[in-house]
Amino acid sequence: MKKLMAANWKMYKTPEEARSEAEKLSTLLQDSSSQLVDKEVLLFVPAIDLLALSQLLDESRELPFMYGAQNFYPAMEGAFTGENSLEMVRATKAGWVLVGHSERRAYFKEDNALLATKAEFALQNGFRVVFCVGETLEERESGQLQSVIKSQLQEGLAKLPSDYDAKDFAIAYEPVWAIGTGKVASESDIEEAHALVRAILSEIIFEKSSETRILYGGSVKPDNAVNIMKIENVDGVLVGGASLQASSFIEIVLA
Ligand code: PGA
Repeated sequence: MKKLMAANWKMYKTPEEARSEAEKLSTLLQDSSSQLVDKEVLLFVPAIDLLALSQLLDESRELPFMYGAQNFYPAMEGAFTGENSLEMVRATKAGWVLVGHSERRAYFKEDNALLATKAEFALQNGFRVVFCVGETLEERESGQLQSVIKSQLQEGLAKLPSDYDAKDFAIAYEPVWAIGTGKVASESDIEEAHALVRAILSEIIFEKSSETRILYGGSVKPDNAVNIMKIENVDGVLVGGASLQASSFIEIVLA
C-alpha cells in the first residue's frame, strides 16, 4: 500500500498563486522521485484553482502529484447556487474529492447523513475519496472519543457501494483540536485513534479495512512528520497550513 501524502490548501491561493506553487512542488517532487516510489502525493485545492492545475497538466502532460476538490454537491446538475458538480470537477481532470472535513461539518453544517450521500455519490461516479473524521476537544475530554469516531464512521460510510477498490477510499483522522492550532496529538493519542479507526472499519467494510489508508491530520509540520509517519496504522497525512509552501510540504512528503 503506497503512503498517501495529501495537502489541503483550504481557502488559500488565487489560480495564479496555485499554479506557481504547484510548479515549484512539481520540480521538487521530480528532483526527489527516487525517494517517492512508495508514496502518492495529492493536493486538495479550491474549486477555481482546479482549472489552473488542469492547464498545468495539459502543458506538462504529466504531473508528479494528483489533485482533487475540497467540495462538490451530490447531484448531476441543477439549481444549487454556488455549488460545483462532479462533472465540473471531472472536467479539470481531478480524480479525488475530500468529504467530511471538520470545517465543512462545523461551518457548513454537513452532517453524517449528507456525508454518507456524498461519499457514495463520489465513488459511484468514479472519484476517489478522502473521508475525514475526528473529535472536538470537548468530546475527547468528556470521554466520547470512541463513540464519536464510531458514529462518524458507521453513519458516514453507511452507503458505500460494495464494489469500490480499497485504494480509492481513504480515511483521514483529524482531531479537531489539533487542526490549525499548532497542537499536535501525542504519538500515543494518534496510535490509539488510528487503531480504533482500523477496528471500526473492519466492522463496516470487512476485509477492505486492512487495505484502507488511514491518514493523520492536524498540525503536521516538517519537524513532526517523520515521527508521525512511523506510527502504526498511519498510512499518510493530510496537511493544511504546512502544505501551502512547496518548500515545507516537500519535507513532509519525504518524511
Ligand atoms: P493543519 O490542517 O495542518 O493546518 O492543522 C489540517 C487539515 O485541516 O486538514
